[in-house]
Amino acid sequence: MSELHLNPRVDSPAAVGWPLDGDPRAFHRRLPGYRPTPLHRLPDLAAQLNVGGVLIKDESDRFGLPAFKVLGASWAVYREIINALGGEEPAWQDIDELREIVADLKPLRLVTATDGNHGRGVARTAAWLGLEAIVFVPAGTVAARIAGIEAEGATVHVIDGSYDETVCRAAEAAADERAWLIQDTSWSGYEEIPRRVIEGYSTLFREIDEELEAASEPPPDLVLVQIGVGSLAAAAVMHYRAKAKAKQPRIVGVEPTDAACALESAKAGSSVTVTGPHESIMAGLNCGTLASLAWPVLSAGMDAFLSIDDDLSRQAMRLMADCGLVTGESGAAGLGGLLYLLSPEAADARQRLRIGPDPRVLIISTEGATDPVSYRRILGFDPASPCR
Ligand SMILES: Cc1ncc(COP(=O)(O)O)c(C=O)c1O
Repeated sequence: MSELHLNPRVDSPAAVGWPLDGDPRAFHRRLPGYRPTPLHRLPDLAAQLNVGGVLIKDESDRFGLPAFKVLGASWAVYREIINALGGEEPAWQDIDELREIVADLKPLRLVTATDGNHGRGVARTAAWLGLEAIVFVPAGTVAARIAGIEAEGATVHVIDGSYDETVCRAAEAAADERAWLIQDTSWSGYEEIPRRVIEGYSTLFREIDEELEAASEPPPDLVLVQIGVGSLAAAAVMHYRAKAKAKQPRIVGVEPTDAACALESAKAGSSVTVTGPHESIMAGLNCGTLASLAWPVLSAGMDAFLSIDDDLSRQAMRLMADCGLVTGESGAAGLGGLLYLLSPEAADARQRLRIGPDPRVLIISTEGATDPVSYRRILGFDPASPCR
């Protein structure tokens, strides 16, 4: 059952988190094939939902990968390179020049654990830089996601355990000095790299601002953002809470009901682990514990936490498909959350959140069809049909 928890600790006018260190956007621009991902305006969907506007930032093709995650992985690796070179940012124009600089650091392996998308981002970063990548995935990770990581040239190990256990195995495998653990979650004693991952996601929000400003369109009034370990949501909160009060939207975090670690933490007043099994179809959001860096940011800056059932994600995937957008299960969670928020059940909460009658809503479609078989099943296509 979906649940909405308004955050009593939110301190909207205050900036939360930390100021960006360096310029991730300038870095991403120099990577091969960089272009901002599309920001779709969907007036028909807005009319159908009876809201002032629907903006969907579409991350189904980010550097040719089907999710936003490579933004964080690549910036984190780059910052490690700078550290390894003594703290000075090297001079380079394109990836060939950066690869030559990195050659001095070899042999070097990038190691990570993932439920799919982050691992593919790490694998792509390693491929760009001519490094080895070792990626650990939990048992049950669908074949297409494993194949996607292997297609980047990485070695994949399947671990018979949960996502959290897989992270432990990756940490063990990265214990020697010729390996860097590039994780998108953080814990006490491991925060430097995940801090950069969060910073790397800022590019996505800067692109949205730039596009709206260039078109003289107002900023969104309401943002729905997915929460797995909370790093993406932390980037959203840091971005929007750094703005003047009048330009700050309401921000609602969305996660699956059986992996609602942010909502449970908000209720408890401290970061708590939600024990599994985490079996939501929203695979990227199946995390039982928030990143240590994310919790204080979300706790201070998120207006509400919302857990949703898989059915809302499925409905949202179909709605997006009707609009011509391909969105996977985790990618559709923001729209799934909006469907709940607009339901009669949430009328009281809408009022308490001071969401006006026609909000302009921003949703981040964080992935494409990363599990094509499931995608087709949910959309009602026959997965075996050669015609689709
Ligand atoms: C498609 C997708 N959306 C959202 C998220 C959530 O990001 P985070 O784990 O930083 O909360 C993930 C995480 O893997 C993901 O793969």
